[in-house]
Amino acid sequence: SPRNLRVLLDMDGVLADFEGQFLKNFREKYPQDPFVPLEDRSGFYVTKQYYALGQDIGTKAFGIYEEKGFFLSLQPIEGAIEAAREMADMEGVDVYICTSPIKKYTHCVVEKYQWLDKHLGKEWMERMILTRDKTVINGDLLIDDKPNITGGMSPPQWQHVLFTSWHNRDVTLQGGQVRLDGWLPHSGWRDILERKRQE
Ligand code: TMP
Repeated sequence: SPRNLRVLLDMDGVLADFEGQFLKNFREKYPQDPFVPLEDRSGFYVTKQYYALGQDIGTKAFGIYEEKGFFLSLQPIEGAIEAAREMADMEGVDVYICTSPIKKYTHCVVEKYQWLDKHLGKEWMERMILTRDKTVINGDLLIDDKPNITGGMSPPQWQHVLFTSWHNRDVTLQGGQVRLDGWLPHSGWRDILERKRQE
């Protein structure tokens, strides 16, 4: 039989609800400040949109996810944990977590491991790939909510599955991208894998 299908899963915005927790913490910490409701989010970087509200607001926004405990506290996206487990159990499929830590790595890096351990378990440590350049990672599919993923390898080996989130829901797919609207059983993630396997 042919080789296994390699699927790379992004964490923030795909498995873990970065945006929801960010907004909750920002509003709790700065109740008097303007904020961006999820339905008004556009552009991948939440900080960029907050900087547009004022330099001080942008700085405060940065501080929210640099705080100790932020990355560990993220709630799983609905259906994500179940889907990840099912995917990893599929015959002929190898699943990896492919995530970019923030530059202020102190809490983020260790908490990403802790999050994976907490929600998926110790055996998932084997699957963890931390990189700031996802284009150099080998895979058949990368499931990620960031619309433009660029880096040292062009084109990357993987096909990009754009995972729908508030900030990318109006983005037009480009160059071989396909879209995945969530992890619920009828979102069609299995079909995307099957189609790729048959290529
Ligand atoms: P990802 O491409 O693996 O999802 O990487 C997202 C990383 O980018 C994550 O560590 C959080 C960080 N990030 C920012 O630095 N600023 C932002 O505005 C957002 C949304 C994410």
